[in-house]
Amino acid sequence: HEADAYRTDLMTITRHVLNEQSRNPEARGDLTILLSHIVLGCKFVASAVNKAGLAKLIGLAGETNVQASAPAYQPSSPRLTSVIFLPCEIEMVKHSLCDQGEEQKKLDVLSNEVFVKALVSSGRTCVLVSEEDEEATFVEPALRGKYCVCFDPLDGSSNIDCGVSIGTIFGIYMIKDKENVTLEDVLQPGKNMVAAGYCMYGSSCTLVLSTGNGVNGFTLDPSLGEFILTHPDIKIPKKGKIYSVNEGNAKNWDEPTAKFVEKCKFPKDGSSPKSLRYIGSMVADVHRTLLYGGVFLYPADKKSPNGKLRVLYEVFPMSFLMEQAGGQSFTGKQRALDLVPTKIHERSPIFLGSYEDVEEIKGLYAEQA
Ligand code: AHG
Ligand code: MN
Ligand code: MN
Ligand code: MN
Repeated sequence: HEADAYRTDLMTITRHVLNEQSRNPEARGDLTILLSHIVLGCKFVASAVNKAGLAKLIGLAGETNVQASAPAYQPSSPRLTSVIFLPCEIEMVKHSLCDQGEEQKKLDVLSNEVFVKALVSSGRTCVLVSEEDEEATFVEPALRGKYCVCFDPLDGSSNIDCGVSIGTIFGIYMIKDKENVTLEDVLQPGKNMVAAGYCMYGSSCTLVLSTGNGVNGFTLDPSLGEFILTHPDIKIPKKGKIYSVNEGNAKNWDEPTAKFVEKCKFPKDGSSPKSLRYIGSMVADVHRTLLYGGVFLYPADKKSPNGKLRVLYEVFPMSFLMEQAGGQSFTGKQRALDLVPTKIHERSPIFLGSYEDVEEIKGLYAEQA
């Protein structure tokens, strides 16, 4: 009856987070509520990504099969019939997009708007940092909560038009004093994050999350509109056979990176060479690294001395997850989570993945130091 139990005793992401949060006495459900709004944003993007190619225009979730009454908002562009939104969520999505108007919005701009509005309306955030917004968003006092969310609403945007996996990345900090929030509250080291995760929009929609007690993966069941626990307690293999880097930048790499990649291709100890896998969406490359092991690197190079990936909403969340899964993450100079950012869109080189693989890279940088 194990299978039956599984089918009827659904471990949804909300139930899972509630279970985890019930362990700390002072929890008041705020993080659970915040995460449920992030989940809504992910479901919207999943729906839009799945149909973006077909619908051409990103319209609104159709109301044919979830709303009896006439919708408040008359979508002007072709409708996406959605099967993953709960009725109450449709209204939120409609209201958040009712200024959608005529013009077609690029998916990353649209995704950003949905996440900003879902996070603000959650009443649990007081400052937001998004890759798509030059300045941080300070939530008006009436709706202010105690969390800061740093997010990349659509990661891997260069892969949208060819249908290759893309994603959303987020990291959550607790704010010290929500009455007078300043940018200092956001510029905290990654080790202060209370939760982090990503959602990958691929052959299936998978949300990977940690609230500080390990890493769990949830897969969206479109017929239920719920993320169901499918990858409990993910642990990354201690060592891997895959390296993931954009070899096109090899001309500009520094010595330790060049040496490491050389060792992957021409091992001296008689072991077999590693495989190269590079998708070009950080979420997809990190997800494969987390499940299969190996190492993902976006090193500094002569052109970009701080590498390309952004500290607050790419490097920190992925490093947090890697450490929680038994791996590690290094900037070339220090543990990634110890970095203290000085600007909200600051970049950093990153080497993350299997513990032993990253140790090897740390050794090569130590030799050079
Ligand atoms: P974004 O689409 O959010 O700007 O992020 C793209 C990033 C990341 O997803 C990926 O790892 C990296 O860009 C790929 O960069 P290259 O194309 O330079 O390899
Ligand atoms: Mn990105
Ligand atoms: Mn992005
Ligand atoms: Mn971008």
